[in-house]
Amino acid sequence: MRKPIIAGNWKMNKTVAEALELVKDLRFKLENVSDVEIVVCPPFLAVQSVYQFLKGSNIKVGAQNCYFEKKGAFTGEVSPAMLKEAGCSFVILGHSERRQYFKESDEFINKKIKAVLPEGLLAIVCVGETLEEREKNIWKEVIKTQVTGGLKGITKEEVSKLVIAYEPVWAIGTGKVASKEQAQEVHKFIRDLFVKLYDKNTAEALRIQYGGSVKPDNISLLMSEPDIDGALVGGAALEAESFMKLVKFEKKAKQ
Ligand code: 13P
Repeated sequence: MRKPIIAGNWKMNKTVAEALELVKDLRFKLENVSDVEIVVCPPFLAVQSVYQFLKGSNIKVGAQNCYFEKKGAFTGEVSPAMLKEAGCSFVILGHSERRQYFKESDEFINKKIKAVLPEGLLAIVCVGETLEEREKNIWKEVIKTQVTGGLKGITKEEVSKLVIAYEPVWAIGTGKVASKEQAQEVHKFIRDLFVKLYDKNTAEALRIQYGGSVKPDNISLLMSEPDIDGALVGGAALEAESFMKLVKFEKKAKQ
């Protein structure tokens, strides 16, 4: 059984003071939850304060990015060890906004994955097609390239330290959530890819999150699909009330 994982990607939102206000509310509202793994990913500057506040709770902290070098003259960058020390358990890598605005390639993302795992961080690796790629019906090729390129040289043992987030670019921040059938089709495709690249057990154990306009009123249906194991949430993770509803989504039997 794969434990559901609901993660909030706060993107470039929340000052430290605002971040603390949000997690104060969340810690209280979510204290009884044990059947879902909960992660919040604040901006770098708030990571440490958020971690200090959440220490000992059931909410883990993640970062939204990092660099692959250990240290040195890389102005503006943050290393995996720095994130670990600040309290991160997770790090999001290859988010479509980083691919799009900062031109991150699969090769670059691959270097980051290889750099974070030895530090004991778990990586949430994002993949997903654009609207144009979906309309051209080439999403399978796009996702296959992202997965194989991003995970080049990653061993079967290391896959257990990964979560894959399928985030169709056309669904991010648009209010246009993928239908549960569309999402399930891609999640199944990704899992089958892991069977081919690794083996059945590795693929079965892998958690695949869906991301893109996930809201309290659509999460239960998505989560009822057999290969959808969680959500990576942007907008709806910025308010305690809606994030709580997401974490406490109504569990329907998997189809
Ligand atoms: P929204 O939930 O705001 O669509 O963002 C999704 C996302 O990009 C999470 O990483």
